[in-house]
Amino acid sequence: MSTTPGDEPQEQISREIAQMHAAAADRGVPARHALRDFAPYRSSTFRHPTHALVRTDPEEIERVAPAFGHVDVDPYESDLTIQHSGDPLGERIIVAGRVLDGEGRPVRNQLIEVWQANASGRYVHKRDQHPAPLDRNFTGVGRAITGDDGSYRFVTIKPGPYPWRNHRNAWRPAHIHFSLFGNAFTERLVTQMYFPGDPLFALDPIYQAIPDQAARDRLIGAYDHSLTEPERATGYRWDIVLTGATATWMEHEHGDH
Ligand SMILES: [Fe+2]
Repeated sequence: MSTTPGDEPQEQISREIAQMHAAAADRGVPARHALRDFAPYRSSTFRHPTHALVRTDPEEIERVAPAFGHVDVDPYESDLTIQHSGDPLGERIIVAGRVLDGEGRPVRNQLIEVWQANASGRYVHKRDQHPAPLDRNFTGVGRAITGDDGSYRFVTIKPGPYPWRNHRNAWRPAHIHFSLFGNAFTERLVTQMYFPGDPLFALDPIYQAIPDQAARDRLIGAYDHSLTEPERATGYRWDIVLTGATATWMEHEHGDH
């Protein structure tokens, strides 16, 4: 039986995910890394790297790359709920944590950028045409710079899950995209934070592209009542570890989802 690409049932995608995990275990691939050519995530087969990395001169890159300084990032940019004249719809949340290196040392002065869908699961992007409402009071982008203890803090709205066309009835678990700029443009890292207990985890070929369950778990923020503010917002804590055995998974190329 053949199906049109994009019209495969979830059962087929889930079967392929299980096969890929089993094959990765057999090959002994470092299972905490995402598999770049992960067939259940359909578009990854077209755009994963197939050649060795191109070496560049970092100084040459920096001559043409964007530059920023501390004064370029306003503290208000970390609150995604105050960018318009009214309050956005949805659950107001606080997402906070620390950026750490592999030895647990804080990584300070790091530019963190976030982008996300609104509470209805809709992005402000012309390619997102799914029939969920835009929110005139929510753009879904923010920035912050880590403090001396590596800490960051965003106020935002809990994003909704959204459909994508990987296969029939494909839905992404709710997530916030994170970019860490590093000390130069060539060091930029991109990842996603998820929310605990999402029923879509088992079905999602992007989340499941990481074979190791513990590495997947590290992408999930933890509800933290000490971050929750009375009458205002619930809190989630998510630490980002850049290197070492417990490193947070990072995307190797920038997907659209
Ligand atoms: Fe997304």
